[in-house]
Amino acid sequence: SLERTLVIVKPDGVARRLTGEVLRRVEAKGYTIVALEQRTVSRELLTEHYAEHQGKPFFEPLLEFMTSGPVVAAVVEGHGVIEGFRSLAGATNPTSAAPGTIRGDLGREWGTTVVQNLVHGSDSPESAAREIGLWFPIL
Ligand code: CMP
Repeated sequence: SLERTLVIVKPDGVARRLTGEVLRRVEAKGYTIVALEQRTVSRELLTEHYAEHQGKPFFEPLLEFMTSGPVVAAVVEGHGVIEGFRSLAGATNPTSAAPGTIRGDLGREWGTTVVQNLVHGSDSPESAAREIGLWFPIL
């Protein structure tokens, strides 16, 4: 069915000039970019976005990382796009992500306290609705 998902090019992706490459792969798959914005985000937004990870050991490093520079956030639309973008992105850890995926082809294992894995994609219809409302309240 026609769905929307929230895609984020994380600070490592923007700093490494991979925004165009990520968006190219999204469009090559036939998905539509319905909203797009580059911005530096607040801890408050990220605390809500990553609410389920509060209390985990990587939570603080994750917020440090995600506020370390601008991100590019996009609302992407397409049939089955929630699962579809997650398969484009590949496994969370770039080391185990398959070739042909964004993280498998372009990800780096940084050996730091947080997985700097280039992109985020909503993991369910519920997450997508919640995250799009948070990042793009005008939609
Ligand atoms: P993301 O899909 O944005 O959702 C949560 C993020 O936390 C994840 O991508 C990684 O950047 C990071 N993350 C998830 N699991 C771990 C982990 N075990 N150790 C460090 N960072 C993690």
